[in-house]
Amino acid sequence: MDRSPRQLKLAPATRAAQALRHIDEKTGAVTPAIELSSTYARDDQGEGRQDYIYARSGGPTIKTTEALLADLDGGEDAMVFASGMAAIVTVLETLRAGDHVVAPNVMYHGVINWLLHIEQTRGVKVTLFDATMPAALSDAVRAETKLVWIESPINPNWDVIDIAEAAKITHSVGARLVVDSTVAPACTTKALSLGADLVFQSATKYLGGHSDITAGVLTCAKADEFWAELQNIRTLTGNVMAAFEAWLLVRGIRTLFLRYERASSNALRIAQHFENHPKIDKVIYPGLPSHPGHAIARKQMKNGFSGMISLLMKNRQTAHDISRFVQVFINATSLGGVESLIEHRIKVEGPNSIVPDTLLRLSIGIEDADDLIADIEQALERAG
Ligand SMILES: Cc1ncc(COP(=O)(O)O)c(C=O)c1O
Repeated sequence: MDRSPRQLKLAPATRAAQALRHIDEKTGAVTPAIELSSTYARDDQGEGRQDYIYARSGGPTIKTTEALLADLDGGEDAMVFASGMAAIVTVLETLRAGDHVVAPNVMYHGVINWLLHIEQTRGVKVTLFDATMPAALSDAVRAETKLVWIESPINPNWDVIDIAEAAKITHSVGARLVVDSTVAPACTTKALSLGADLVFQSATKYLGGHSDITAGVLTCAKADEFWAELQNIRTLTGNVMAAFEAWLLVRGIRTLFLRYERASSNALRIAQHFENHPKIDKVIYPGLPSHPGHAIARKQMKNGFSGMISLLMKNRQTAHDISRFVQVFINATSLGGVESLIEHRIKVEGPNSIVPDTLLRLSIGIEDADDLIADIEQALERAG
């Protein structure tokens, strides 16, 4: 009888939790060392060992991190960057004068700002569409469209875009679809399997999860010539993530599923609690059945609707006051960390933003939900 161990097929949550699992032969250490070397000695034949030559194109810690990310997203490959914006700029660097790119008119403001910058400086054509209008994306794409960039849920008004539908529309004109999945990582949405060609994530947020790294990730459905061009741009521009950040990122991913579930269940409770509050005009959260994108969110967010909520207050002053009066929430930008953050969004996006000046963006963390509810209640009382 064959006594060799039966190979178990492990679920993504297990693979993530055991991501740094490694037993060192000599010492028994159960997590791997961080590989900090910036250069790699060639072998007797003058060849690179395992393709490692120079850290700007990635060393062992970077490659391990990328293998984990590609595995979780179900992609052929992954690349890690020094920040989310470094990854975004790398993708947009492939666009030439006359190329057309389509994106929502509300989304992470850094992407809109860079698109408008390359429209002015490089002659790239940009169409921003209203993601709340049903036919807006199909009206926006055309034969010269090279790239459709979407985000779901969209920051900071949490509109939900049907990724499978967007992929069909994008591919009908021969363009590539990039999905910013920062708010809906692979633990809840598998954007590549829904038809995206590339998934982008600011790993500064949920993937890292502890507000202690800036990091960006791209994963691809196919490691084709376009992917090779992106790899080349990253190497030449030196946008790669540092090894220490990569190690911290993997450590963060070990608790991703747990943190995301807790942030999502906390956020749902908070959204339900404040939904009909007399001092709040509107609670925007895709997990609420009243949210216009709830049905699509249910279809493509399988394991929680994120910790991201926006509150529309009665006026700008109240929004400003609540962000100052909270005691448990921290008044700071960013999202996806274990600690809850609140921000008066207009302060970050600036005067060109079309986001309402009454909007408070909440990133719900993993604290006790009752403490977070009590904190907003006391801030509302004080704001009057
Ligand atoms: C949805 C989204 N995309 C992209 C970015 C940019 O990422 P980074 O700040 O890591 O450069 C952010 C950062 O706030 C974001 O929230």
